Amino acid sequence: MKLWKGRFSKAATSSANEFNASIGFDQRMYNEDIAGSIAHAKMLGKQGIITMEESELIVKTLEEILEDIKAGKVEFTIEGEDIHMNIETILTERIGQTGKKLHTARSRNDQVAVDFKLYIKKEIHEICDILQEMLDAFETLAKQHVDTVMPGYTHMQRAQPVTFAYHLLCYYQMISRDKERFEDCLKRVDRLPLGCGALAGTTYDTDREFLAKELGFASVLPNAMDAIADRDFAIEFLNCCATAMMHLSRFCEELCLWSSVEFSFVEIDDAFSTGSSIMPQKKNPDMAELIRGKSGRVYGDLMALLTICKGTPMAYNKDFQEDKEPVFDAADTLKASASIYTEMILTMKVKTDKMEHAAKYGYMNATDAADYLVSKGIPFRDCHEIIGKIVLYCINKGIAIEELSMDEFKSFSDKFEEDIYEKIDVRACIKAKKSAGSTSFESVKAQLAAIEASKK
Ligand code: ARG
Repeated sequence: MKLWKGRFSKAATSSANEFNASIGFDQRMYNEDIAGSIAHAKMLGKQGIITMEESELIVKTLEEILEDIKAGKVEFTIEGEDIHMNIETILTERIGQTGKKLHTARSRNDQVAVDFKLYIKKEIHEICDILQEMLDAFETLAKQHVDTVMPGYTHMQRAQPVTFAYHLLCYYQMISRDKERFEDCLKRVDRLPLGCGALAGTTYDTDREFLAKELGFASVLPNAMDAIADRDFAIEFLNCCATAMMHLSRFCEELCLWSSVEFSFVEIDDAFSTGSSIMPQKKNPDMAELIRGKSGRVYGDLMALLTICKGTPMAYNKDFQEDKEPVFDAADTLKASASIYTEMILTMKVKTDKMEHAAKYGYMNATDAADYLVSKGIPFRDCHEIIGKIVLYCINKGIAIEELSMDEFKSFSDKFEEDIYEKIDVRACIKAKKSAGSTSFESVKAQLAAIEASKK
């Protein structure tokens, strides 16, 4: 039986009922719905809107219903439409008239908003924990690879040598901003919409500050219409998810490349790889590819909610029922992707010899060779040209810059001396970086120390 049936002379068709119902997906908010109702019932009792006995009976019964749901003893119905009315119906079945008083001074509009915010708050905490584990993994790996050299790329071309630790700490920074973004988003989610009624406030002497305290919200939204109609907190949450997925996707792309025979920088553990049904030699980086692919799905979730909200007039519209699935999907996808990702990077084999070999070829010390000539008093632009000519000469000869004889060096510039060889050694190139935040061994150690210090 519909809780709102009074005004109707005809029941909805079963297809309309099914189309309208959200219980199929919003039942995952049962915990939040019951928490919201318990706080509301306590507030009603405290304010004398219902009696204390009624309030206590409602609270006690809701707690029992929660236990029954957890034990799998409760069956939700399409007829009940959504999680809110399903639970209210069960409550009324159990305690009769008193159960019908719970919805005093409340609407499903503020109820759904508070449920959704409680749910997103819980997700933010879980996601931040998972991202912290990932940050710890990057830190652990970086500590192991302070001395591992590898090529740094721009335009996917070998550019300058860097350390693997430096590359990992680049991702550390991206993921720590993602975590920060979620923590910041939490500030907007943490404002209470409950107690706003359908859109205009209620005629009862309610206590919204009490509700905020009971439910652990930092503050109370100041405008009831906004409290009902706002979904930007969910859009912001989806944006945080999409950006984090984009970062995971970028590293996964690198893992796919690096685990190819062409690169061979890493080998993903067998436990995170799959084989081919036809080619026996294949070992595919499926997890990395899937995470990369799933980033598209989370972008879709963000686009979906932006589009759902666009053009919805104030205040509540049923369109908003479509807000939950994208949020559930994005949170599930990010949590699963991030967890797998951390396990995958902690177990992959890093082929330091291959990285080092690649770092020595590709003329990545050309900039350092130019800087050498600058130190001998030649203007940088001229040095750039001299070294450019040397690189072309070496390419034609099929050798590295450091394989030139002293005579060959001198034929390009008489400023070259014996010390050129040590100056353009791959580790010397890395060591020579002086600017703050560089790839130099010292700087990377300082970056690690700063991470360590930030935890205290
Ligand atoms: N299932 C609805 C939703 O998810 C709950 C709010 C319904 N409110 C209403 N006035 N029909 O948005």
